[in-house]
Amino acid sequence: MNKECIEKILEAAVRAPSGDNVQPWDIKVSENFAQIDVYNLPEKDESLYNDQQIASFIAHGALLENILIAAKHLGCHARYQLFPEPDNAQHVVTIQLSKATPEPDPYYDAIFRRQTNRFPYRKVKISEQTLQALQQTVAKIDGAKVSLVTEQDTIEQLADILKVNDRIVFENKKIHQFLFDKIRWNKQQIEQTQDGMPVDALGLSFMEKLFFPLLRFWGYVSVANVFGLSKIIELKCWWQCRQASLLGMLAIKGTDKAAFVEGGRAVQRLWLEVTVQGLSMQPIIGLTLLIGQLRQDRLNALSEKHQLFIQQANEKLPELFGLDTEDTLVMGFRLGGEVGAEKRVKTLRKIASQQT
Ligand SMILES: Cc1cc2nc3c(=O)[nH]c(=O)nc-3n(C[C@H](O)[C@H](O)[C@H](O)COP(=O)(O)O)c2cc1C
Repeated sequence: MNKECIEKILEAAVRAPSGDNVQPWDIKVSENFAQIDVYNLPEKDESLYNDQQIASFIAHGALLENILIAAKHLGCHARYQLFPEPDNAQHVVTIQLSKATPEPDPYYDAIFRRQTNRFPYRKVKISEQTLQALQQTVAKIDGAKVSLVTEQDTIEQLADILKVNDRIVFENKKIHQFLFDKIRWNKQQIEQTQDGMPVDALGLSFMEKLFFPLLRFWGYVSVANVFGLSKIIELKCWWQCRQASLLGMLAIKGTDKAAFVEGGRAVQRLWLEVTVQGLSMQPIIGLTLLIGQLRQDRLNALSEKHQLFIQQANEKLPELFGLDTEDTLVMGFRLGGEVGAEKRVKTLRKIASQQT
């Protein structure tokens, strides 16, 4: 394998999504460019959502999928092993590369175009063909499946549940603080850190942008909540979900760390297919992560009121999405037609090219 090819593979790898764009990975390449090892960096995401590193393992799955797609596209055969060191839970994957004939893949270009779109969407009819393409790409990953809801009545019932995802962020001090630590307010901060989320990636309207900087102060937020701030934020999420062309839930079998990495691969495949189809997507993962914690009796860090919200979501989501109660929920999402692509900004990535 040569350096140029590896550099291209790594460039694609790091375009993977991660919670608040924390990029919780450390990538090492062997001297002969035939092996890539990826390590998790727990210190990158100490948020309440990332209990047992599950959010990070989903991100690693997306990164792995990018590597596999790019390798094939650029003419490498890739074989991988998850968690190759039994005593090192942070060594997520080792990938062996060898030369092969390039197999062009439309997902390769989509890797660089994929983005989180938090703006409202245009309601478009999703064709049967597109629905099938989304199902099929997820089904390529063992144990993964996706439920897609286009029926308006069910969308409205789901919107009512999914909306708590955003409310909790403004009612829990720790979650709020973590999010605002990851917001980048100006060009200089964006370029200096090369991580986190530019404020312009948050899907705010002109009016919202005016008062949003105030919301970084918890004191202000907790007073404003008395006057209904968190409920207004919840309402926006509800409206955006209600207006979506489709609401979906991606699920996997199993709850161990390897299952979440494979789940992350499925997340990325789904998102790349959405991109190829010219549609927009926003993940709603905070809620599914908290549901996972509830199922393992690990939700103590949340208030009783929030625990109740999560319990209700846990009861209703599988039923409305037609999933089995033992399916592990990985990612809820809304999907729709793109509006105003020019308003969206890209999140940056740190370059990964460290060698062993
Ligand atoms: C595990 C995980 C959880 C995420 N949760 C959310 C979420 O709840 N809401 C949201 O808007 N974006 C969520 N995202 C999207 C990230 O914020 C986004 O991928 C990151 O900021 C990089 O931006 P990009 O997707 O535009 O490249 C999540 C991504 C991952 C991988």
